[in-house]
Amino acid sequence: MNNADFFDLAVRASEKSYAPYSNFKVGAVLLTEDGQIFTGYNIENASYSLTVCAERTAIFKAVSSGFRNFKAIAIAGSADGDFSKPCPPCGACLQVMAEFCNDDFMIVLADGVYQLSDFLPKRFKL
Ligand code: THU
Repeated sequence: MNNADFFDLAVRASEKSYAPYSNFKVGAVLLTEDGQIFTGYNIENASYSLTVCAERTAIFKAVSSGFRNFKAIAIAGSADGDFSKPCPPCGACLQVMAEFCNDDFMIVLADGVYQLSDFLPKRFKL
């Protein structure tokens, strides 16, 4: 799969987003080292701080299914259906990525391909 198709899967995942408060729909597609795909989207809550981002939904689905080795994630976010602007992962999601992913974990956004170390050059680890 090329990066454009991978990103399109994230756009499609965003259609299932539950975002009645922000109306900002985010989809994420996570690729495991052995080629499995897990999708996720943001799930908001009336108690706002309980909201979970699309990236963490996808990562926790994968980890709770027994997968811990990840190659790449594509992320698409939009409030108006225009997915051409990048939706970089938030700090909380970066820290969750840092738990499971190497520095070269690939992050595919609307404006290009990055790696985890571009966003989080020094990670907190115990
Ligand atoms: N959101 C994500 O799902 N991923 C991000 O990387 C940034 C923000 C969600 C959380 C909330 O539901 C909405 O976008 C607005 O912040």
